[in-house]
Parts: sequence; structure tokens; C-alpha cells
Amino acid sequence: MSPTNPRILPYGTAAIAEAAALIRAGGCVAVPTETVYGLAANASDSQAVARIYEAKGRPSFNPLIVHVPDLEAAEIIAVFDDAARALAQRFWPGPLTLVLPLRPGAGIASLVTAGLDTIAIRVPDHRAMQALLDASGVPLAAPSANASGGISPTRAEHVAKSLAGRIPLVIDDGPTSAGIESTIVMGRTVLRPGPLSERDLFSGEGRSAGLQRESPGNATLRPSPEHPVVAPGQLDSHYAPGKPLRLNATIRQTGEWLIGFGAVPGDDTLSIRGDVVEAAANLFDALHRADASKAAAIAVAPVPEIGIGVAINDRLKRAAHPR
Ligand code: TXA
Ligand code: MG
Repeated sequence: MSPTNPRILPYGTAAIAEAAALIRAGGCVAVPTETVYGLAANASDSQAVARIYEAKGRPSFNPLIVHVPDLEAAEIIAVFDDAARALAQRFWPGPLTLVLPLRPGAGIASLVTAGLDTIAIRVPDHRAMQALLDASGVPLAAPSANASGGISPTRAEHVAKSLAGRIPLVIDDGPTSAGIESTIVMGRTVLRPGPLSERDLFSGEGRSAGLQRESPGNATLRPSPEHPVVAPGQLDSHYAPGKPLRLNATIRQTGEWLIGFGAVPGDDTLSIRGDVVEAAANLFDALHRADASKAAAIAVAPVPEIGIGVAINDRLKRAAHPR
């Protein structure tokens, strides 16, 4: 195909060293996990995370899953209760993602959590992803490594085809074993079904130390034959400021906090040089700052519908019309 195809390197020392160097330089790299191939970037680097969305051409910012080498590393980022810790001890490393309160000061880019105060986190059971975590030394945000709207990749060739011209490197370690994305759990609720079933997770829990039984009455989102699968797209809980938000503003009106972009100055700016990737990286932090300001309302300068600008505008429109 075209010369812009990403390089595909077989898993090994050389591939991991090159991938880790790219990650440390703020880039993103496709790497297999036991579920699907992920597009990984440093979860602490907001611009690196913005590049994930840019490469996928995602029209909106869903919160991403953060991958860490072990439970100890996860506890630095998220707040575990006894039940969550028991699940982690039983199923990690493995295809289980836990949604937990984000630990304040953990240093995770707000774009990873899409401004939420919770974080989705997992310990992958795959030698390539584990080696990359080890060599790069940072937590890795990684959605599936396909262009937005495409099918999740279970082979390096799927990634190369879907993201040609958009990423530098794919680590190839053959087809993934599980083939579908991890099961996502929040409390006792399965948010996204996956390789581990609800039964795997929650039956026989009485035998596990630390797990408390709860009444099943609060399990409103749990999939069942009567209430099947909750698709991830339906879970778009998102950050909404507590104040009115005006879009496409070029000047500040009375009482407003103006978030600028490019030539439009403001109390704050998404990107003074008009760079949409930088703007995406700053978006949720800027909205939080605007919310925390004394101003009664928020205005945001126009952001061009170019590249990741589409996702920025999607998010801004949702923030302007909270559900
Ligand atoms: O198997 C997997 O989980 C793959 C591999 C690469 O690890 N990763 C993956 O990531 O599927 P991603 O980013 O495509 O899945 C993110 C999903 C979101 O669509 C959302 O449903 C959920 O995780 N999610 C993330 N953060 C959340 C949060 N704070 N609250 C609720 N759901 C969250
Ligand atoms: Mg996906």
C-alpha cells in the first residue's frame, strides 16, 4: 500500500525499545493486549492523549482506559475500596476494567477521564503491553487501535489498514486471544460486557475475602436476558459545567469568562497558536477553570472543524446543552 503505512515490528526487545522512545516523546503506538490491539500514549501527557483522538479521528471524547503494570500502580491513580481490590486481586492481570474514583493529584491528563472524577483502569495480561509499560515507565491510555467507527483490531494488519498514515508503529504479536474489549465494571454494575461475564465476576464472591454482598436491587444497569447489553456509546456521562456556555464567541459579554483560541484572546486560551491538538489537550482543564472562576457564564471562541477540532466542538456542544 502507500508509503505512509505504519511500520510493523514483531514483538521483541527492539520493538519495545522503539515504542517506549516514541511514548516518552509524546507519541502514540499500537500495541496488542489480550483483548484487542490498543493505541497507547502517556496518560499523564495531555497532548499525547490528544494525539490518540486525532489519530482515531474520534468525533467526540469518550473517557479512555488507563493501563498499568499491577495493582500497586493502579492504587496510585485510583481509590480502591475492599470490593474493588478483591476483584482486582482475582482477575488482574486480565480483561477487567474497573471504574473507580480518580485519586486527586494522580497526574492523569483530564482528557483521559474527559473531565470526570472517575477513572477506568486495568492491568493487561499480555507480554507486549506489559513490556511497554515497563520500558516507558508511565501509565498508558489506550483505546482500541482503529479509526473511529471502525471495527476493533485483533491483528497488527487490521491496525495498519485502519490507521495508515496516522501512526508511526505497530507492535505485532499475532492475533489477540480474547478478541473483544475488556469487561468494564463500576461497583457491581457491568457497564460494558466483555470476556469476563457477570457470573465470572460476581458469583462465588462469598468465598472471596473482602467482598461484601449487596442487595441486587441497585443493579439497574446489569445486562441480563431482559435487559441486554449496555453499549459503551450509551454511557456517555460527561463533564458539564455548572454555568451557561456560549459557543463561537469572539468577544466577552458582561459576566462571562471567555476561553480563547488562536487570535481570539480570553481569560484563558485553548491554544494561543490556534493548534487543535493543543486545544484538545487543554479543553477539560479550561472548562474546569472557567467553572471555578467567579464569572456567571462561560463563552468559548470558535474552534475550526478540522481534525480533532470536530471532537472539540462535539464536546463543547454537549457542554452547552447538558442533559
Ligand atoms: O480491552 C480493552 O478495554 C481495550 C484494550 C486496548 O485495553 N481498550 C478499550 O478502551 O476498549 P476504550 O478507550 O475504547 O474504552 C473506553 C470505554 C469508554 O467508551 C467508556 O465506556 C468506558 O471505557 N469508560 C472509560 N472511563 C470511564 C468512566 N470514568 N466512567 C464510565 N465509563 C468509562
Ligand atoms: Mg473501540
